[in-house]
Amino acid sequence: MRHLTEIDDLDADELGRVLELASLPDAPRVLAGKGAALVFEKPSARTRNSMEMAVVQLGGHPVYIQGGEVGLDRRESVEDVTRTLACYHAVVGARVYDHAVVERMAAVDVVPVVNMLSDTAHPLQALADLLTLRREFGELAGRVVAYVGDANNVARSLALAGAMAGMAVRVAAPPGHTFADADRTRIESVAAAHGGALVVTDDPHRAVNGADAVYTDVWTSMGQEDEAEQRRADFAGFTVDGRLMAEARHGAIFLHCLPAHRGEEVTADVVDGPRSRVWVQAANRMHAARGLLAWLVGEAV
Ligand code: CP
Ligand code: NVA
Repeated sequence: MRHLTEIDDLDADELGRVLELASLPDAPRVLAGKGAALVFEKPSARTRNSMEMAVVQLGGHPVYIQGGEVGLDRRESVEDVTRTLACYHAVVGARVYDHAVVERMAAVDVVPVVNMLSDTAHPLQALADLLTLRREFGELAGRVVAYVGDANNVARSLALAGAMAGMAVRVAAPPGHTFADADRTRIESVAAAHGGALVVTDDPHRAVNGADAVYTDVWTSMGQEDEAEQRRADFAGFTVDGRLMAEARHGAIFLHCLPAHRGEEVTADVVDGPRSRVWVQAANRMHAARGLLAWLVGEAV
C-alpha cells in the first residue's frame, strides 16, 4: 500500500514512472467499477476537477465530499473516516489544513491516500510542475527553477520535486516567510542525493538571475486570510513583473500554480504574457493526477 503525502514519498524511479504514466495517450482502466473519495476541507478549482476527471478517465467514479460532511475529528476520528471510505473506494484524496491529518489517514494504511494540498505540502501540484518543465525543457538535471514569494506548501513540494529531478532550485522569500530549518535540511539532503541544489535567499534578483523558469504563488494561502494585509506589506518587492522576468535566462518561462492575484505576486503582463505556461500547467494537473492514480492503484499495490 503506497500513499502520496509529500512528493518524496516516491523515489526518483517511481516519480519517473508516474510522469511516464501521466503521458500515456490511452489511460489504463485501473479504476473500472471503483470509487475515489475526495475530501475537501478547503476550496478548489483545479484540484477537484483534475482529480475527478482523472478518475473518470481511469474508468472510476469520483465522490466529492466536503470536510464538514464527514467531520474529520469532529463527527468521527480521521482514522474511522478513512476506514469507512476504504470500504467503498479504491483511493482516498484529502485537502486539509493540518498536514498531520493526511499523514494519519495514510498511517491507517487500508487504502492509498493522496494529499490534495495541506498547509505543508502540495505534491500533486509538484507532479504537474515537473510535467510542465519536462515538456518545455526535456531533461531537467542542471536546469534552474527560481521560486519567488512565500516559502509555502507549493514551494516546499516544488523544491523537493526539483531537487529529485536534479535541478538547481532557488527560493527567494522575505524574512519570516522562508523555509523552516527542517524543511531546508530535507530539501538539501534530497538535492544532494540526486545531483540537485538548493539556494535560499531573501533577494528575488539573486534567485531569478539566469533562471530557466520563474515560479510564484499567492502571498496569502487558504487559511491565512486574516494576515492578508500584513503579508502584502511583508512581500513588497517580491512581485514577479516584466523587469524581474528580464533577469531570467532569455526565453525563460513563468509558472504559477494558480489562483493568481494580478498586481500582487505577479503582474498581468507576466501571467498573461508570452512566457507564461500557467494554462499548460493547469491542464497538466489532470494528466499528473491520472498518472499518479494509475501508479497507486494499478502498479504500487
Ligand atoms: N493549484 C491548485 O491546487 O488550485 P486549486 O486550489 O484551485 O485546486
Ligand atoms: N499556497 C496556496 C496554493 C493554492 C493552490 C494555498 O495553500 O492556498
